[in-house]
Amino acid sequence: MHTIIAALEDKRRLARLGGGEARIAAQHKKGKLTARERLEVLLDPESFEEYDMFVVHRATEFGMGETIIPGDGVVTGWGTINGRMTYVFSQDFTVFGGSLSETHAEKICKILDLAIQNGAPVIGLNDSGGARIQEGVAALGGYAEVFWRNVQASGAIPQLSVIMGPTAGGAVYSPAMTDFIYMVRDTSFMYVTGPDVVKTVTSEIVTHEELGGASTHTKISSVADAAFDNDIETLLEIRRLFDFLPLNANEKAPRVATNDTLDRPDFSLDSVIPDSAQQPYDMREIVEKLADEGDFLEIQREHAGNILIGFIRLNGDTVGVVANQPLVLAGCLDINASKKAARFIRFCDCFNIPILTLVDVPGFLPGVAQEYGGIIKHGAKLLFAYAEATVPKVTVITRKAYGGAYDVMASKHIRADVNYAWPSAEIAVMGARGATEILYRAELNDPEKLKQRTADYEARFANPFVAAERGFIDDVILPHGTRRRLIRAFETLKRKKVAMPMKKHGNIPL
Ligand code: HXC
Repeated sequence: MHTIIAALEDKRRLARLGGGEARIAAQHKKGKLTARERLEVLLDPESFEEYDMFVVHRATEFGMGETIIPGDGVVTGWGTINGRMTYVFSQDFTVFGGSLSETHAEKICKILDLAIQNGAPVIGLNDSGGARIQEGVAALGGYAEVFWRNVQASGAIPQLSVIMGPTAGGAVYSPAMTDFIYMVRDTSFMYVTGPDVVKTVTSEIVTHEELGGASTHTKISSVADAAFDNDIETLLEIRRLFDFLPLNANEKAPRVATNDTLDRPDFSLDSVIPDSAQQPYDMREIVEKLADEGDFLEIQREHAGNILIGFIRLNGDTVGVVANQPLVLAGCLDINASKKAARFIRFCDCFNIPILTLVDVPGFLPGVAQEYGGIIKHGAKLLFAYAEATVPKVTVITRKAYGGAYDVMASKHIRADVNYAWPSAEIAVMGARGATEILYRAELNDPEKLKQRTADYEARFANPFVAAERGFIDDVILPHGTRRRLIRAFETLKRKKVAMPMKKHGNIPL
């Protein structure tokens, strides 16, 4: 028996070596951890249970029959994060560049199947040269099997992707269908076709980093949700994100004990709105002041800064926040902001996460570029997402709520549950000046008269009470007491149930 156990230990030791010492050293030299070291950082100590350590590929061509490495370039299994279960796969770049063979794909598929069946999230650590070139269509079929499962899992369990090395070609589409993508700065990239192909086809000359690095995907394309400086920081941030999420669509996010008090007033909020409606202020500051212990996990911070999205906790419960940011483009809704917020709202709705909306929006961003780019369709995504979401929705209008953007930003009319306004709220079809210039066009040459008209309009409409008179606003609340009112509002909505009309699924304007 001792010999058999020793043989098993030997087999395990060999599998843990992956592509061997030299390739592990090369991985470290690039500033990257190995697949197994990454799982050690991601998961609770001693919690990882590995599956399929002895799986090997079946290829024989191109000399593959002589190169058999147990595990076949991906480490799979499950473990816990702060005691809560998650399935994981971690691609091993030291084995055939982490490339995906038929069997490598089968290992990932097994993990996805188990995760769906057992209602636990999947976290994928991607570091791969793409389809295993020696295998051809077998590898392509493997990718498609993974893609199909990503779609089955979507909305049933949270799927998180971490890009920790190359992710090229069709390989990008599995992470792209997951809920959140984090990248590591300088060592990871994602693109459908690399710089060489780009040069041949379009004559554009770009580096890997410019084409598909973390900066590109967090700032420009919005493919990635966040980026961090190294493997360790990125994995610790994934742990932080995980803690905000439920394990599956039938469960609620975990309650996290807080030292913050339910009714903590914040008197600095009473003076956060500037006297001039034209002056911006930082909405992020308000979010942080409302959150338990000021903890705001912001998603897509680098993209479409005119809207903020992310997670906070209120009295220990996860809440998704969507907030206009007056510091950028005066908080206008544009194409990017609409897409960013719409997808986030749909994520929250899938996973029973209530939504808090903070509104200061002067309208949709005007311009030829916006119209040509399809602001009608993209703005509709946001409207659709809010109207479709059945999770508890609480809205606070801090200042402007003008025009169509008032309707879109979780208004009562599209079924927000509780709608509050601060006394500084201005709910109107448009700003007072714009309104009077249209209503009193004949008086445009008389600045004094126009000024008076503007003041009259402001006095009548630049306040929350016209909306409150109609019940569109449930109450005008004091800024310093907002946290307490929000916590109490969400408490009343805990058992909210909404019946939906029978359908297969809606048809959001994609
Ligand atoms: C088999 C691969 C491989 C692959 C890398 N390797 N990619 N083996 N299939 N796809 C191997 C290399 O031969 C090498 O083996 C080891 O991994 C490390 O690769 P290097 O090139 O030395 O590393 P590096 O310089 O860091 O470059 C990494 C890389 C490069 C940028 C990923 O390897 C590369 O461009 N690979 C090919 C990428 C690609 O075109 N993939 C197919 C995409 S199409 P040794 O033995 O020397 O250590 C695709 C279709 C999917 O994926 C479609 C789904 C719908």
